[in-house]
Amino acid sequence: MHPMLNIGVRAARSAGKVIIRAFEQLDKVEIESKGTNDFVTSVDISAEEAIVETIQKSYPNHTIIGEECGLIQGSDNDFQWIIDPLDGTTNFLKGIPHFAVSIALRVKGKLDQAIIYDPIRGELFTASRGKGAQLNSSRIRVKNHKELNGTIIATGFPFKHKQHTNAYLEMFKTLFTKASDMRRAGSAALDLAYVAAGRVDGFFEIGLKPWDTAAGELMVIEAGGLVTDFVGGHNQMNSGNIVAASPRLLKEILKNIRPHLGDSLNK
Ligand code: IPD
Ligand code: CA
Ligand code: CA
Repeated sequence: MHPMLNIGVRAARSAGKVIIRAFEQLDKVEIESKGTNDFVTSVDISAEEAIVETIQKSYPNHTIIGEECGLIQGSDNDFQWIIDPLDGTTNFLKGIPHFAVSIALRVKGKLDQAIIYDPIRGELFTASRGKGAQLNSSRIRVKNHKELNGTIIATGFPFKHKQHTNAYLEMFKTLFTKASDMRRAGSAALDLAYVAAGRVDGFFEIGLKPWDTAAGELMVIEAGGLVTDFVGGHNQMNSGNIVAASPRLLKEILKNIRPHLGDSLNK
């Protein structure tokens, strides 16, 4: 295992421990609102601290971008860790056991290592640039669908961006009509990991942040899939509008959502 992946895994496992301990005593978790339908808990913060501490012990000069801590500028900006300590906070708070730790390492602007860890199921998804993607050390691959017929498409509702409700529902309607079924499980990181593992066939969502998708993006690519924005470009990390699937299915998804994008989602 690449030494930096190894450190990322160690960091994800230590955050996982913090999260599981808190999940067993949910009534003790402190919650604060940080925006519309957006919450941060004492657990998000302590899980992130555990990750930052683990990374900094081995790589004190690396830059870290965390959902809760923001930018920790290191003297070596070629190495950037992008962290979501708890992806699926709403599930966590409701006692729904579906959430993950997401950690990516970008080297000179390119995604290089990825870790998505589901501490409830003990499922560790990893990927290294050019080396494929694994679930608990076994190779995973995106399902090679060519059309929407027969597929399960994962998605997230734009609950933090309700101005896009109508456009989103039109996109949903078109895809739902042609696919077998849809899933809204509540963790974008796991949605992408599940695309990589062939558990779902595709994924799309509006308005995600780099820490939601960075690790998942590399995971899908290394599992043989493609990741783009809503017009087939590579602006997904900036726009937050993301589609992931096998190359052929991704083309189909783009073709079907295109008529519903309007001006604001055209990126
Ligand atoms: C959220 C989850 C969810 C997605 C949201 C994300 P958080 O992350 O990934 O599935 O629909 O848009 O913000 O806030 O739980 O880390
Ligand atoms: Ca997230
Ligand atoms: Ca989070």
